[in-house]
Amino acid sequence: MPDAIPSPSASSDSLYDLVVIGAGPGGYVAAIRAAQLGLKVACIDKEGRFGGTCLRVGCIPSKALLDATEKLFLAKNHFAEMGILVDNPRPDLKTLMARKDKIVETLTSGVSLLMKKNKIDKIVGMAKFVSPTEIEVSADGKTQKLTAKNFLIATGSAPVELPFLKFDGKRVIHSDHAIALPEIPQRMVVIGGGAIGLEMGSVWSRMGTKVTVLEMLPQLVAGGDSEMANGLEKVLKKQGLTIYTAAKFTGAKEEKGALTVSFDWEGKKQTETADVILVSVGRRPYTEGLNLEAAGVKLDERKRVAVGGHYQTNVPHIFAIGDVIVGPMLAHKAEDEGVAVAELLAGKAGHVNYNVIPAVVYTAPELAWVGKTEEQLQAEGIAYNVGKFNFRVNGRALAMGETEGFVKVLAHQKTDRVLGVHILGAQASSMIPEAASVMEFAGSAEDIARTCHAHPTLPEAVREAAMAALKRAIHA
Ligand code: NAI
Repeated sequence: MPDAIPSPSASSDSLYDLVVIGAGPGGYVAAIRAAQLGLKVACIDKEGRFGGTCLRVGCIPSKALLDATEKLFLAKNHFAEMGILVDNPRPDLKTLMARKDKIVETLTSGVSLLMKKNKIDKIVGMAKFVSPTEIEVSADGKTQKLTAKNFLIATGSAPVELPFLKFDGKRVIHSDHAIALPEIPQRMVVIGGGAIGLEMGSVWSRMGTKVTVLEMLPQLVAGGDSEMANGLEKVLKKQGLTIYTAAKFTGAKEEKGALTVSFDWEGKKQTETADVILVSVGRRPYTEGLNLEAAGVKLDERKRVAVGGHYQTNVPHIFAIGDVIVGPMLAHKAEDEGVAVAELLAGKAGHVNYNVIPAVVYTAPELAWVGKTEEQLQAEGIAYNVGKFNFRVNGRALAMGETEGFVKVLAHQKTDRVLGVHILGAQASSMIPEAASVMEFAGSAEDIARTCHAHPTLPEAVREAAMAALKRAIHA
């Protein structure tokens, strides 16, 4: 533990132990944990609705739309084969969006209640450092000053804009707009085949939009296991999305009221017409307006707030977590870092295990994984066993009509320690925590294989894949 972390001392009325800037899953969770541990805390956000990108315009609203439109897709395409007849299922966009907004409202007001319950001062306004120990918060033309022993920067990230394709919020949009389109576009081109592109592409495709995804890398879901990503690509194509991988987007121009998108693919120049272009090529750390120079806080080469092992910036009492620092831009990673910082500040041993951070793409089927991909293991020269199991031979998956996908378990060839688990399948997000728990406790494929799994369930496929890694799957 770095010796410079100040120890919590008796709070004075005017001085906070911790001021958290940013009330997303990183910031608000840090504030709650710090308050639980007896620190005097304020949490500031420029938005009155606490919860950050995740709750307001990211994870939660996108899932509300994904879950609703998945039901629409099933009603249109699969209910009849299950013996359920419904006439003309179709989206009612107004109700769909209103339901999503209500879910966001419920959760963001829940965060405000949690601030109150934990006696955290909720402050709405734009925070700006005026010195290393003082910030100014401005809202509605009024400014207040706050001093604190420690500050936590948890200001998150913003969508990356392509230099030659500026966002206008109507024709050229980012994820904030994609969750709130006023009408169903006829044609959408999605630039970037990562989580946002595939999730929002799925939402609008299910509502009837002709969706084309352009991904510059040879596979979707950069950083994911390529076999799994290719499996997902096949399913999404079957669902009606057009997908070009290894495609080089070269520009877009407006012609006769529509947008013509140009790209190079397989050595040929191609075009695609769109009413809307969703740019989902990644996010960048958001530090605008913080005036970090006044605090003397340094950024790294990728404009992230530079931190050491304990989230400390170069200014010892200023910390940073979440999307604004190095690492995957995931809400659960930020949350865990928030808890760790609060615990370190309270003199405890906060820690995040970066080897066991699950990732999920919430398409249907979902793609979820934790640990290493096969490509990573090969690059690192680690010998491993592979066990796979297909959902089409899992009893529950058949009963549910959810037979797409498979599970892949990667275990160390000598020790059998689980190194990675990859699941493409319905409810993969709910199955990956089993793998994460086993990996957190340095468990083996044998441990999963010997754990009794309820029957009939989808997680039996995880057990069978673990058994397959030991060359003794029962049902394959
Ligand atoms: P991403 O980094 O996941 O994917 C962006 C994709 O765009 C990459 O595959 C990249 O190769 C591609 N790309 C970049 N420039 C391109 C270009 N000029 N032409 C074509 N393709 C290009 O970023 P995304 O999807 O925008 O998401 C942003 C962040 O938010 C990510 O860190 C992601 O993990 C996170 N997020 C996570 C979700 C989840 O956990 N389910 C959901 C939504 C976002």
